[in-house]
Order: sequence, then structure tokens, then C-alpha cells
Amino acid sequence: MNEPAPLAEQGTNAYARHRERDRGSVVSQTRIGFMNVLLIGSGGREHALSWALAKSPRLGRLFIAPGNPGTAQCGTNIALNPDDHSAVIAFCRSEQIGLVIIGPEAPLVGGLADALDGAGIKVFGPSQTAAQLEGSKAFTKALCDEAHVPTAAYARFTDAEKAKAYVRARGAPIVVKADGLAAGKGVVVAQTIQEAEEAIAMMASGGLGDAGSQIVIEDCLFGEEVSYFVLSDGDTALAFTSAQDHKAVGDGDTGPNTGGMGAYSPATVLTPALEQRVMDEIILPSIKTMKARGTPFKGILFAGLMLTDTGPKLIEYNVRFGDPECEVMLPRLKTDLLDVLEAGACGRLSEVSLAWENKTALTVIHAAKGYPGTPLKGTEIKGVEIAAKLPDTLVFHAGTTRDQDGRLLANGGRVLAVTAMADSVTEAQQKAYQALSAIDWAGGFYRSDIGWREVAREQKK
Ligand code: AMP
Ligand code: GLY
Repeated sequence: MNEPAPLAEQGTNAYARHRERDRGSVVSQTRIGFMNVLLIGSGGREHALSWALAKSPRLGRLFIAPGNPGTAQCGTNIALNPDDHSAVIAFCRSEQIGLVIIGPEAPLVGGLADALDGAGIKVFGPSQTAAQLEGSKAFTKALCDEAHVPTAAYARFTDAEKAKAYVRARGAPIVVKADGLAAGKGVVVAQTIQEAEEAIAMMASGGLGDAGSQIVIEDCLFGEEVSYFVLSDGDTALAFTSAQDHKAVGDGDTGPNTGGMGAYSPATVLTPALEQRVMDEIILPSIKTMKARGTPFKGILFAGLMLTDTGPKLIEYNVRFGDPECEVMLPRLKTDLLDVLEAGACGRLSEVSLAWENKTALTVIHAAKGYPGTPLKGTEIKGVEIAAKLPDTLVFHAGTTRDQDGRLLANGGRVLAVTAMADSVTEAQQKAYQALSAIDWAGGFYRSDIGWREVAREQKK
């Protein structure tokens, strides 16, 4: 493991003492280097980000827009519409925000980073054009062609009949994707031609809104999936870490896909040799090509990879931290997250090296019944405080809210992320499920096998 770079050593006891006294005051921010931060988002990812930022001795005030009851324990939640760029800029000016961190993809694709940049406000997150790496599958496929990045063979269509003819000629299994953002619902891995044709018909008839106006059809890749994360300031690409998500709703990876039902990090199936290949064959050519095009990627690049028999292949890029990957990566990060993200925003990543806990983290998503369809909202959740006090355990909030009496209620599909740290995935899994058993929530459910691939590998050792 690398030692933290000098940048990461700026936090001193002196800072910490001043922070206790002067937290958030203008004087402290300008005189001794405190920084006020605005974080955009409201999921488990944003609770994990705000939890990690709150550990920084350099943090002044932390605002989260709109946040959730978990982020409220780390900073101040505020009602600010990320689509209203002028309002975000005005807030940053009035609160002397030194760094804006954009969590979800939609505000990035909506150009919030460009607006902030244009107003002279430091922002961690890519431009609208660079966010097309997530916002348009056709954009990413074209980049893969240009940069010779290994990915599934594909064709793109605006005409449903031509798309169906291509599928019939190509055969099944085959993957049908809506070009635009579709909240995780835009990909159908079709096992039969009929299923593929139905997916094409659904997308072409507006079933996913504008996202489906262009359709990408891809060959099916086979292997084990991993999520790999790299920080970039446009020039430097700094390896972050890996995780493995569990997308299907049911045990044994059955049922429909979700935003992710649990994860662990690091994903050791991505060996150092494979990681090097991912960097050389996928990440670096992509970052270099984006820069050469005059649209450098700045932020965190999340590569969804398939480890196939012939090597790692890119399934997709996302332009943000993953959720629930964030809830297992950040608890392992020893380096000050504020220093790292600020360096990313300021083009100073070459000065940073990252240090990690020599532990595994595993998270299980506690979801509301009905998810990924219509989740049951408003049911009461008890015992979160008890679970969070267990050793090596963190409970991150996602879709939760509090009623007037302070009771915690479900308010979304993915509601809590229960993370545990340990020396092995097997042990972290046991601890996470022990914590879940302390949570009393009749309206929720979770998978009982998060980490199963790695647990099986550990048992063979
Ligand atoms: P996405 O919504 O783009 O993250 O894709 C959802 C999931 O669909 C991925 O995590 C993969 O499991 C699967 N998938 C996407 N593209 C392919 C492909 N070409 N081959 C096999 N599975 C794929
Ligand atoms: N966990 C997958 C994602 O964040 O897109």
C-alpha cells in the first residue's frame, strides 16, 4: 500500500482544534484553510461521501442538497434544486463554498459542473460533454472504437424494424440498450430473439421516454463483472479501487436488475495483472482520447467491466461514484477524501497517492418491499442506532425520511446500506447480516448472499 502524499498530510491536530472552535466561520475558512463544501445528492452514496468528508480536519461546513436523515448527521441538509444552476451558484457564493461535489449522474449530464466552473466555483465532477460517457451509450461505443478499447461488438439503430432484423441475424443471447439515461432500466440481456424484439418494441414505442429514441444492440459478454474506479483531473489517471456489485434483486443473482443490492471491496478477482490490463487497455486510452478531443474527463470514472476468457472488456462507463460501491470503498480509504477530491478538481492529482485499510468491506442493501418495482413507502424502521453501534459496522441511509415525531420511515426503493469491515469477505458478510438482524423493519427485504462468489473462493483456499 502506498503512503499518503504530502497533500493528504495537511490535516493536523491544530486544524482539528481550530475546527472545533471556529467550524464554518468565514474567518476560519480564509485564515487557516477550512473549506466549506456542497455535496449534491440524497442516496447511500451521498451518506458515505458526507461521512468520509466529515472526517477531514480541513472541512468547514458541509451542506448536502437535498441529503437524507443520514447525511444530516454529517452536515446540514438544504433544499436546493440541482437543475436550477443559478440558485446553486447563488448558494455557493453566499455560503463561501470552496468545493462542490456532484454525486449522481443526472446533474452532471444536465451541465451543473460547467455552470459552476463558468462561475469560478471549484467542482468535482465532469463537464456535460464528458458526462456523455454515461449519458449516451452510443457516445461511449464511438469512443471505444476511436481509442481501441475492448468492448462488445455493437450496432446502433433509430429504426425498430432494422434493429429487429439485426437481432435475428446475430442470434441470442443478445443485449438491447436504450441509448440515454434510464435509471438502470435501459438494459435488457435477452436470452431469446423474441425477448430482444420485445425490448426493442418497448424502447422504440417510448417505453423509456427519450432514452430509447436510439437503441444500441450488443453481443452478450460472458464472465464475472467488476466495478473499477479511477480518479482523473483530465491529465492524470489515479487508480482508486475495485468493488463487486450484485445487481439482480434475488439470491443467486435471480430476478430483475436493480441499482445494486449489495457489494464488497476490494474485488480480488481483479488481480494486479488484470488491473494493469484494465488501466493500459481501457482507462488510459479513454482518458487520453477524451483529452485529445478537447473534452477532458475530470471526476471519478467508473468502469463496469466483464472479465472474459479473452481479458477484461468494458460494459459501460459511469461518470460518478457507484452506489452501493461507495458504501464499501470509502470506509476503506485512509487518505483524507476532501484533499483527494479537491486535488481532482484543481488538476493536482499527480501529487496524490492513496492509502487503504488492509480490510474488506461488505454492504447489504435493505430495500423496501416492491423494489425494483413500486416500493412500499412510509413503513417505520427501528433499530438502526443499535445496528450502527455494533463493532466495525456502519449504517448508511438512502431512501429514508423522518416524520414530525422523529420516527424513521422508508421513503424510496433502496433504503439502507449496512456495511461491515473485516479481514475477509466471509467475516464481513457475517457481521453485516448480524447488524441487519438488529434492524426491525417489516416493510423491508434484503438478499441473503451478498459476496457469495468471494465467500466460495475463500472457502476453497
Ligand atoms: P447497465 O445498466 O448498463 O449497468 O447494465 C446492466 C447490466 O446488464 C450490467 O451490469 C451487466 O450485467 C449487463 N450487461 C450489459 N451489457 C452487457 C453485455 N454486453 N453482455 C452481458 N451483460 C451485459
Ligand atoms: N451500482 C451501480 C451503479 O452505481 O450504477
